[in-house]
Amino acid sequence: TRVLILNGPNLGRLGVREPDVYGAASYADLVAAGERWGAENDLEVQVRQTDDESELVGWLHGAVDDGAHVVLNPAAFTHYSYALRDAAAQVTKAGLLLVEVHLSNPAAREEFRHNSVIGGVATGTVAGFGFDSYRLAVLAIVSRLAA
Ligand code: DQA
Repeated sequence: TRVLILNGPNLGRLGVREPDVYGAASYADLVAAGERWGAENDLEVQVRQTDDESELVGWLHGAVDDGAHVVLNPAAFTHYSYALRDAAAQVTKAGLLLVEVHLSNPAAREEFRHNSVIGGVATGTVAGFGFDSYRLAVLAIVSRLAA
């Protein structure tokens, strides 16, 4: 079972960027954690990050073509990218799972973060638990696939 953990803009700056909001752990730590969760759950996990909307859209097309489930932190694209929403919709319409994740809890932050254009086409959302948001998303995929 393949799972892509995809990260949008600025998440490559984890650990450096607003550690009060996003924590002290680095993006390299997230990659290592993702690979560990994969090994623990017998999944082929790949962790990727891009600042580029078109690259992220392309990775979602690739998930459909390869039959990979997706854990997606769309970062700021969450709030305005209809292109990413349309790409995410293709993943769930293909019968694959797509879990939207956020390190922080956007609902508890600025008004512009309260709306997600991705949430309505995701299988579900986990937000507010730091790296655990990703871990819980991976476990939700494992649990759903076992059901
Ligand atoms: C984020 C929340 C977004 O509002 C923000 O633009 C990010 C990170 C999170 O993981 O908490 O870049 O997706």
